[in-house]
Amino acid sequence: MTYSDLSKSISELINSHGVPEREVYLDYENSGLINPEIMKVMENAYKYNGIGHPSITHRIGWITYQSLYEATMKIAEAINSNVDEIVYTHSGTEANNLAILGSANLSKRKKILISSIEHLSVTFPAERLEKYGFKVIKIPVDKDGFIDLDFLLNHVDNETLLVSVAIVNHEIGTIQDIKALRDIVRDKDKEVLIHTDACDALGKVPLNMKKLDIDLASFSSHKVYGPKGVGALYVKEGIKLEPIIHGQLSTQKLWPSVENVPAIIGFSKAVEIMHKNFNDYLPRMIELRDHLIKGILDKIDYTILNGPFGNKRSPDNVNISFLYCEGEALTVELSMKGVYVSSGSACTSRVLEPSHVLLAIGRRYEEAHGSLLMKISPFHTISDIDYVLDVLPSAVNRIRSLSPIKSKMKVG
Ligand SMILES: Cc1ncc(COP(=O)(O)O)c(C=O)c1O
Repeated sequence: MTYSDLSKSISELINSHGVPEREVYLDYENSGLINPEIMKVMENAYKYNGIGHPSITHRIGWITYQSLYEATMKIAEAINSNVDEIVYTHSGTEANNLAILGSANLSKRKKILISSIEHLSVTFPAERLEKYGFKVIKIPVDKDGFIDLDFLLNHVDNETLLVSVAIVNHEIGTIQDIKALRDIVRDKDKEVLIHTDACDALGKVPLNMKKLDIDLASFSSHKVYGPKGVGALYVKEGIKLEPIIHGQLSTQKLWPSVENVPAIIGFSKAVEIMHKNFNDYLPRMIELRDHLIKGILDKIDYTILNGPFGNKRSPDNVNISFLYCEGEALTVELSMKGVYVSSGSACTSRVLEPSHVLLAIGRRYEEAHGSLLMKISPFHTISDIDYVLDVLPSAVNRIRSLSPIKSKMKVG
């Protein structure tokens, strides 16, 4: 389907849809709303302090450089790193690509270990390296998405270039024990690089790069309620990567294009807000998350929670399979009621492939297809969640009554 075909059908959908009376946005997996405080600092940056190129030697360039530096200091403070350890990219996807492809360029080692539930922006660059003689081994996970540490122990060795496992899984919210992973890897061979895709960890779990003592970590602004189109890679002091894009000389050698300074300022503000309010936001998100999970499991039959219960689950993550129900149809039905959620991750929703994460934890094809991913933000209220719980049962009933899956499976 071309862009214009898609645009025609999407404008028909918008016209027929109308604007619901109440709206609750729970699709923070795929992108989200930006709060007014962040908008304000970005507006100022577009008007005054983020206009220029930070490497250029005139007044506007210097002001832009200073704003960039101050923004980076706030991010460094939040993750306890040095300012010079942060490299900006234009997304989390780019940061993951830089970590994986940028380390491969310099090494004779040809073995990479990733988990079987990584975001595709980790899986695909790793698999791309197979063309160039690298071997990619996927660490299996258990039914809640925790990686098999014995498997890691048996497979990491002095041929291994890199181990990459996300701290928080983007789909099912599993919080991995990265310290245990780090100890296993370091005991085996100190030269193995450790990368984590921390896009879903920032603002959701405490992050302290000095204590964590790994080599590389990726971040994405819109995953922390900041603007889209900006990301960062933490590169521990002394770790050598090679650029994977080439161009002009810029402030950053590893990502040589002009930094999107207004977006970075917004990103930094978003990180600062999450960091300062972490102790208030965390219990609030957990309360809302558990209220939503319990409400759905109690009110709606044939539902399964994907990912772990309790404190090993990201505070924002609710992922539920609704058996005998098409996830995509349910997202459209809920949209009519002003509830915005996704089924699986955005990367797979247009091609209707079941989520590789849900298949990896043992869900059957139909269970994976009938899943909804909802992400709570600290800006939601209990009344938002109650609204979702009010409209969800009838939406599920309606989709189940229409679904060919239901009749095939003779249930309900
Ligand atoms: C865990 C994870 N990694 C990477 C990304 C990609 O980030 P971006 O959308 O900034 O490219 C996402 C985006 O949803 C994500 O959830």
